[in-house]
Amino acid sequence: RIAYVNGRYLDQRLAEVNIEDRGYQFGDGIYEVVHLYNGRFIDEDRHLDRLERSLREIRLPMPVSRPALRHVLAEVARRNRVTEGLLYMQVTRGVARRDHAFPARSVPPALVVTVKRIAAYPTDVDRWAGACITLPDLRWARRDIKSINLLPNCLARQAAREQGAIEAILFDPDSGTVTEGAATNFWIVDEHGVIRTRHLDHVILPGCTRGALLAELEAAGIAFEERDFSIEEMRRAREAFLTSATSFVKPITRIDGAPVGDGEVGPVVRRLFEIFARHVK
Ligand code: PDD
Repeated sequence: RIAYVNGRYLDQRLAEVNIEDRGYQFGDGIYEVVHLYNGRFIDEDRHLDRLERSLREIRLPMPVSRPALRHVLAEVARRNRVTEGLLYMQVTRGVARRDHAFPARSVPPALVVTVKRIAAYPTDVDRWAGACITLPDLRWARRDIKSINLLPNCLARQAAREQGAIEAILFDPDSGTVTEGAATNFWIVDEHGVIRTRHLDHVILPGCTRGALLAELEAAGIAFEERDFSIEEMRRAREAFLTSATSFVKPITRIDGAPVGDGEVGPVVRRLFEIFARHVK
């Protein structure tokens, strides 16, 4: 596999980062994951917009221009001959002697891009469905920034896996409202049949898949609400699903061992899965 590391395309086994890279030492960096389908980057502009926003929020300049970055992404996919995959890009505040405050302006940010092949896009929505568990959201207060600090997310996802679930749905322990998944946005079709996902603020990541699906719903004239919901409302939901660059629209049929609705993939999620499949193709 070929990785892009600070201006060079290298055999990934030989690619190295400095042990004083601030991403490694402090988690001082941000990232993006983009789905590559049939040789095309899905929602590429949304991902690049969010990358630029995350960088601005942590006061880090773009390591290369946007057109140059687009070129690197395409080049990593091409050199690896991947047409169905996940592109990973990461920008950190570069290499400097350890000091919490930022290094001198002359230290360039470090950019790494890798790609991994994934299975073909799912066609059977029933087999794409999965189970979730719930856990308190223990992350920091700026979850709108796609920071590489993912320890709470890793712990939550591992807890899910150990319980035979694919994702942990996180909730604010004070208010009891659902925030999002460990690496996904979470949605319900509530007891009144309304498609709902949490509104955007600093509490969740503004998912690109979330944004793209909302735009598709709007275009199709399908009603939805961006409004938070409690764990109890979630347990009364008729249907539930996740969105992300890696899970697309993924039906959730069990939460904490109990069925969502009748425990089968419902009609609304089935339709949204089709809508998103068309969006990707
Ligand atoms: N995760 N919320 C969190 C906390 C995420 O980490 C992600 C993405 C999402 C969905 O965002 P998007 O639709 O833009 O992928 C929501 C990526 C896929 C990851 O960490 O691998």
